[in-house]
Amino acid sequence: MRKTMMKLTTALVVASTAASMAQANEVEVLHWWTSGGEASALNVLKQDLESQGIGWQDMPVAGGGGESAMTVLRARVTAGNPPTAVQMLGFDILDWAALDALANLNDLAAQEGWDDVVPEALQQFAKYDGKWVSAPVNVHSTNWVWANKSVLDANGIAAPTNWEEFEAALTKLAAAGVTPIAHGGQAWQDATVFDAVSMSTGGPDFYKAAFIDLDQDTLASDTMVEAFRRMDVIRSHVDDNFSGRDWNLATAMVINGEAGFQMMGDWAKGEFLNAGKVPGEDFLCFRFPGTADQVTFNADQFAMFDPLGDVSGEQSALAKAILSPSFQSAFNVVKGSVPARTDVSDEAFDACGKQGMKDLAAAAASGNLYGSMAHGHAAPAAVKNAIYDVVTAHFNGEYDAETAAQELADAVSIAQ
Ligand code: GAL
Repeated sequence: MRKTMMKLTTALVVASTAASMAQANEVEVLHWWTSGGEASALNVLKQDLESQGIGWQDMPVAGGGGESAMTVLRARVTAGNPPTAVQMLGFDILDWAALDALANLNDLAAQEGWDDVVPEALQQFAKYDGKWVSAPVNVHSTNWVWANKSVLDANGIAAPTNWEEFEAALTKLAAAGVTPIAHGGQAWQDATVFDAVSMSTGGPDFYKAAFIDLDQDTLASDTMVEAFRRMDVIRSHVDDNFSGRDWNLATAMVINGEAGFQMMGDWAKGEFLNAGKVPGEDFLCFRFPGTADQVTFNADQFAMFDPLGDVSGEQSALAKAILSPSFQSAFNVVKGSVPARTDVSDEAFDACGKQGMKDLAAAAASGNLYGSMAHGHAAPAAVKNAIYDVVTAHFNGEYDAETAAQELADAVSIAQ
């Protein structure tokens, strides 16, 4: 990805004189929040800006995880017409910052005291070379399981706390004729499940060595083989139509009682809420079995595109609105995520949100907070995509577990 982006440097210079499609007093925002729950959350932001007299030009690019949105972004920048603001994750932000494509938000950050309230783990991706280059809107995490409560109750299943209990629950649901796992066969969704399965199989040191340090021996290890075996177990408990299914349609299967569980980041909660469901009554949220003390996080941020480094009044207003404490509460209550500031009360949040906030603080304090591989917070895009390819090929039966671990090590080595 780095190489591709270097080629864009020239285009960026050209872009520096081109105006964005947004008119004065308007922001054009590129994002991938197109599901029902995501759109409801985005409305909170639109309305906030509209109340300040700033118009919103929507640039949605469907596709969970944002891969398609990033492709559109590259095309827009190459055409010399970058959007005003772009939803972005982790290493992608740093890559664009390295190309001098992002506005410097330091004056606003100093005025608003961001350094004191944004967690260090997020600042690592929001700042480049001492400059604030994006505004974090939330913290999601990927090691969650979402369950239909009546389906579990009807089958005498309690929330599993380790892999063995989870496997037993899957077997039970299959025997009862219920699809045990709702899953969408798309590379980023396979990888999202793999985040949690790897953490559970090998623990935090293993996860870090594999996906953050990219250690060859760990990637090809017996523990990695075991993680792929567990992916085989999961694969054998999805329905026949899983291929290509969007993540929110998989969530709908759990909401409707067609499936027992979905392993997905907490944006899934937005779908339950959007369908009028209540945590603890209609659905359960719990950490992926065996990862109760760990959090694999990803934070959505909005980067302001401006090759000259100047931030416009509208961009400043957007960034300020995003990090205001009242907005952080209102938005994240709907989105399923938790605030990107440490000083926001959990009062307005439901049980899952309160647990999310508690887990995040505890994991940060105990050193068990790690960036999500699947959502661009563990390694740069080239490595992430190489991991996606192997995980998906394995999930679709191309490799057995042993071959997959070796392929993973090779693919990561080539991608670096
Ligand atoms: C993630 C993003 C979430 C959610 C999800 C599915 O990458 O961080 O906010 O949008 O994709 O679309």
